[in-house]
Amino acid sequence: MPNLIQGRIIAEKIYADLRGEIAELKTRGLTPGLAVVLVGDNPASRAYVRSKDKMCRDLGLHSVKLELPADTTQAQLLARVEELNRDPAIHGILVQSPPPKQIDEAAIVRALDPAKDVDGFHPLNVAKLALGDESGFVPCTPLGCQRLLIESGTEISGAHVVVLGRSMIVGKPLALLLMRKGCGGDATVTVVHSRSQRLAEITRSADILIAAMGQPEFVRAEHVRDGAVVIDVGINRVDDPTMERGYRLVGDVAFGEVSPKTSAITPVPGGVGPMTIAMLMSNTVKACRQM
Ligand code: GUN
Repeated sequence: MPNLIQGRIIAEKIYADLRGEIAELKTRGLTPGLAVVLVGDNPASRAYVRSKDKMCRDLGLHSVKLELPADTTQAQLLARVEELNRDPAIHGILVQSPPPKQIDEAAIVRALDPAKDVDGFHPLNVAKLALGDESGFVPCTPLGCQRLLIESGTEISGAHVVVLGRSMIVGKPLALLLMRKGCGGDATVTVVHSRSQRLAEITRSADILIAAMGQPEFVRAEHVRDGAVVIDVGINRVDDPTMERGYRLVGDVAFGEVSPKTSAITPVPGGVGPMTIAMLMSNTVKACRQM
């Protein structure tokens, strides 16, 4: 049987460390503050925003949840971002993606104060990641994937990591992070995507396979080498009338047929998801410390 890489348990360890840091900041009169902005009523986004807010409160962080109507204009959203940029009680700002169609997301990200960009999406933070400048913010999901690998004792240095997916939220920053010099890096990284040829041939050569393309159960047994470590970033809602809520959550990996081939694999839910929120809390504490 493969090892299950339990994100919930690893996230608890991160929270234990963060509680100590937050207590220390409070003795200096500082309480890290996070603002999460949600435009519209996408049910999955609402659920994420709720859990981020709950975790802030659990840790004793200052939490602001801004829920704006689906017809919010670009100018209205920009005005709210600028208010948060100026607010000294707020150290981190996250605008939940994806926003409604009328919003130019890239322009909103550029308007964020990079020192409060705990998502790590601002061009300055993307550049800092590429340059290896540790003062920048790294996106939370890639950071969580790297931490899962480290905490599960997976050797990253020198390993062939294949990342499926090239999004700005996961695939691209994850590739940069794992190829960085030093601890948690030094991997040989290949990124494959929807236009890649000989995809299965490439993924079968991975020591570590990270699925982040947002397609339910795309990765099958034929994509995975015996003994590989598999990290499943996907959280997809698929209709299931047998479930009370009408859907179930599946990853980008067909867990049933893939897991017997692996040496270790993350479950969905309970793998990468809890780590993403833990890394957001960690980035918020870092933003407060660096303010
Ligand atoms: N939507 C899905 N993942 C993320 C994330 O990490 N940050 C933001 N802002 N939106 C998301």
